[in-house]
Amino acid sequence: MNMLEVKHLRVWDANEGKEIIHDSSFQLKEGTCLAIVGESGSGKSLTCRSIIRLHKPWIRQSGEIIFQGEHLNHLSERDMRKRRGKHIGMIMQNGMGAFDPSSVVGVHFQETLKEHFGWSKGEAEASMKKAMESVMLSHPMEIMNKFPHQLSGGMLQRLMIALTLVLEPAVVIADEPTTALDTISQFEVVEQFIQLRERMGGSMIFVSHDLGVVKKIADEVLVMRNGDIVESGNVEEVFTAPQHPYTQYLVSTRLELSHHFNKIMNGGV
Ligand SMILES: Nc1ncnc2c1ncn2[C@@H]1O[C@H](COP(=O)(O)OP(=O)(O)OP(=O)(O)O)[C@@H](O)[C@H]1O
Ligand SMILES: [Mg+2]
Repeated sequence: MNMLEVKHLRVWDANEGKEIIHDSSFQLKEGTCLAIVGESGSGKSLTCRSIIRLHKPWIRQSGEIIFQGEHLNHLSERDMRKRRGKHIGMIMQNGMGAFDPSSVVGVHFQETLKEHFGWSKGEAEASMKKAMESVMLSHPMEIMNKFPHQLSGGMLQRLMIALTLVLEPAVVIADEPTTALDTISQFEVVEQFIQLRERMGGSMIFVSHDLGVVKKIADEVLVMRNGDIVESGNVEEVFTAPQHPYTQYLVSTRLELSHHFNKIMNGGV
């Protein structure tokens, strides 16, 4: 069964009259992880934002977004808001952007969980405490009393993962969730994503420019270039036998890089 289906998605900039995504169609099967890869500006983030219909005012979209059999494009903005977070979770590149800078992070959790589940402050705190511990954040009560700027990028991403664990959305969309982090935090956050998938058994869209991470986490992959999907399929197959020249280029550059890295690690260049 398809958890999510995108049909003939077009996205354009109404100010400039320029089309950015041209007739993109794909499916996310239930319980699987679909990766989106491709060069900067190819339309990966706009594809993700189109699913939850959260764009800048001048960005427009057409086409069908079908989530669990329901056509989201027919929903009002009010009904769409109820789907965001609770049914379709989104974890962005920059954890800081997800939080209100003027309040401590605990307030964000209380408000979100009150809105979606009607929980009291105590109920929200108890659930968040447990979820934070499960993503290896120690001293959760102290963290909940901190402002976003007092926490590191890796901690903020783990907080978003913890909130996602509590909300249990049917689909999680993660748009380059590790790009803004240092290497060690990247590794840890990727591990948390793998565990998040295992625990929720849910479906996920994972945008990344790191083919190593994609191979580790995803079942299927879409390769985007200039607003088009140029190749798609099973990760293993696409990476071992890429058909499109652009995918071949992506895969060979990655091989070259890891080759170079291995040489350095083995002491000779
Ligand atoms: N808010 C916006 N207003 C106008 N144009 C935009 C806006 N957001 C994106 N674009 C344009 O749409 C194209 C695709 O952008 P998008 O952010 O989806 O790329 P991306 O694949 O996510 O790139 P990256 O890997 O750098 O995150 C770009 O050419 C960009 O200039
Ligand atoms: Mg992007």
